[in-house]
Amino acid sequence: MKIAIASDHGGVNIRKELKSLLNELGLEYEDFGCRCGESVDYPDYAVPVAEKVARGEFDRGILVCGTGIGMSIAANKVKGVRCALVHDMFSARATREHNDSNILAMGERIIGPGLAREIARVWLTTEYQGGRHESRLNKIKKYEGN
Ligand code: RB5
Repeated sequence: MKIAIASDHGGVNIRKELKSLLNELGLEYEDFGCRCGESVDYPDYAVPVAEKVARGEFDRGILVCGTGIGMSIAANKVKGVRCALVHDMFSARATREHNDSNILAMGERIIGPGLAREIARVWLTTEYQGGRHESRLNKIKKYEGN
C-alpha cells in the first residue's frame, strides 16, 4: 500500500508522528509538504493529494490541518475521493469497514500525536467490508457520474 501524506502549518507535528508510524508499519509513502514553518493554504495540499489518490497513483492519503475540516472539505471535492474526518477510534474502524474511505483527515488542534497515531494505525489496517455497504457507495459513485 502506497500512501500520500501532507499537512498545512497546523498539522506539522502529527504529520511527523504519522511518518514514524508509516516507517514502523513498513508502508511506502511520499510526503507532499508543507515544507515551511509559515502559514500556508490547506487546499494547496489537500487537492493534489486527493487527485493522486483518485488517479490511483497512491492507494490512500492522509491529510492533517488544525481541525482536519478544511482538508476534508477540499479533498472531498475530488471525484472518487472518500475523505473521512476522524478523531476517535470507533470512527477510524467504521469508516474503513463501511465507507471504504481512501483519505484520512485529522486535526492537530483537536487531538494529540498519540491518538492520531493509533487512529491512523487502525485506519490503515482495517479492511472494507463490502456487502450491504457496496450499494451505498455505488449511489455516491453514480452521483459523481461513474
Ligand atoms: C489554519 O489556520 C487552519 O484554518 C487550518 O489548519 C484548518 O484548521 C482548516 O480547516
